[in-house]
Amino acid sequence: MADKLIIFDTTLRDGEQSPGASMTKDEKLRIARQLERLKVDVIEAGFAASSNGDFEAVQNIANAIKDSTVCSLSRANDRDIARAAEALKGANSARIHTFIATSPLHMEKKLRMTPEQVLEQAKLAVRFARNQVADIEFSAEDGYRSEMDFLCRVVEAVIKEGATTINIPDTVGYAIPELYGNFIKTLRERVPNSDKAIWSVHCHNDLGMAVANSLAGVKIGGARQVECTINGLGERAGNCSLEEVVMAVKTRRDYFNLDVAIDTKHIVAASRMVSQTTGFVVQPNKAVVGANAFAHASGIHQDGVLKARDTYEIMRAEDVGWSANKIVLGKLSGRNAFKQRLQELGVSLDSETEINTAFAKFKELADRKSEIFDEDILALVSDESVTSEKERYGFVSLSQHSETGERPQAAIVFTVEGKEVKGVSDGNGPVDASLKAIESHVKSGAEMVLYSVNAISGSTESQGEVTVRLQNSGRVVNGVGADPDIVVASAKAYLSALNKLSSKADRVAAQG
Ligand code: KIV
Ligand code: ZN
Repeated sequence: MADKLIIFDTTLRDGEQSPGASMTKDEKLRIARQLERLKVDVIEAGFAASSNGDFEAVQNIANAIKDSTVCSLSRANDRDIARAAEALKGANSARIHTFIATSPLHMEKKLRMTPEQVLEQAKLAVRFARNQVADIEFSAEDGYRSEMDFLCRVVEAVIKEGATTINIPDTVGYAIPELYGNFIKTLRERVPNSDKAIWSVHCHNDLGMAVANSLAGVKIGGARQVECTINGLGERAGNCSLEEVVMAVKTRRDYFNLDVAIDTKHIVAASRMVSQTTGFVVQPNKAVVGANAFAHASGIHQDGVLKARDTYEIMRAEDVGWSANKIVLGKLSGRNAFKQRLQELGVSLDSETEINTAFAKFKELADRKSEIFDEDILALVSDESVTSEKERYGFVSLSQHSETGERPQAAIVFTVEGKEVKGVSDGNGPVDASLKAIESHVKSGAEMVLYSVNAISGSTESQGEVTVRLQNSGRVVNGVGADPDIVVASAKAYLSALNKLSSKADRVAAQG
């Protein structure tokens, strides 16, 4: 019988640590629901002690998610662990994930602790956590650069204290597949009680080998949990990508002989949701979820695929959710058809009011655009005004004028806490003029660190989806807006980013 490979998703914790990828509580909850639909085994919902916002996000997710285990990260101290336990109280199945660095470099330079002190703190942390919940994961941060003898002592001790999962991160992405696989194997052979815990891998992608290293940890090392993120989101070059690792194990079951619970047909929707929310665009040639992943441009390939699909395809596009790009609804479609399509797309809106708002927006769009694709619907429901309760700023209308040889002008009407205001400005182009028109009133002083436009369904008739990333007083937020008019989409994205900047946030970093 095949073993099960546990999929631990950390998009909402390690993924979110990527500069610019921070998400609101509502966004995190929406992504957590999509992860549950994907049948992810463990969702790392955040780092509860890092901020009040993260505490609430973990708490909301713990209360809402029924099928996946919900986990919170915590440093190896009682305060962090108690906070994690508190946030996880409502979960059907809760896990505390506590960590401390074990490499000589991290212990000496970062923690300024001796190895004996680290060992003692790790034991105390796991003992304390074990009194809160039964499911405890221990991570040896920078584990791959740790000394084998010391790491064996730490792992043996924390398993004795009750750790049920042992995670050995390659925190800085330094590993090579064969070496990392053998490192996990040696650990498992040398730790006397290693069979009392599940072994886990957590690889960063600095040398582009996070997926390969994770798979080697599984195949050579015998790990039975992989930590990963949607689209490989994460600090620096990112984490191991969920979609790649899952499809590798499924497609090459002959080699891995492992079962994964993931319902792969929700992968593309999850990828789009994470990309839209964070503004981290998926490269077209990205495995599994890139726009070209299943496109055959060469005549020889097309001919082969038409004659027998498996000549050039090792996976089926529809198995990972690529059936989406088709005309689904039009101006005559009713509320029920719309609601049903939302369900088929795996989107669950919380209330009838949200469905009504989304349907009104759909009708508005259908009046302007004859063909509505699944991507349009997904963009529409990810619009803040559908799901957020109260926004400080809201878009009302925009007019702009641009003509060759003349400086563009824009006038925008938007609401500030429900009250309409008007801003006017000129600018280098119509987008610049429109955003300056907003700033002429708001005066946020924020710096724009990213502006990107993407045609949602790939033609000039499609909606433009704009991401704006703003930075102010050390905070970085993303705003996303969609509209067939990209200047309007830009204004919506800008207002959405300002809404996020106007909400309070404070947090401490997970590593440091
Ligand atoms: O990369 C890492 O070491 C981590 C730990 C906190 C698990 O993310
Ligand atoms: Zn990490």
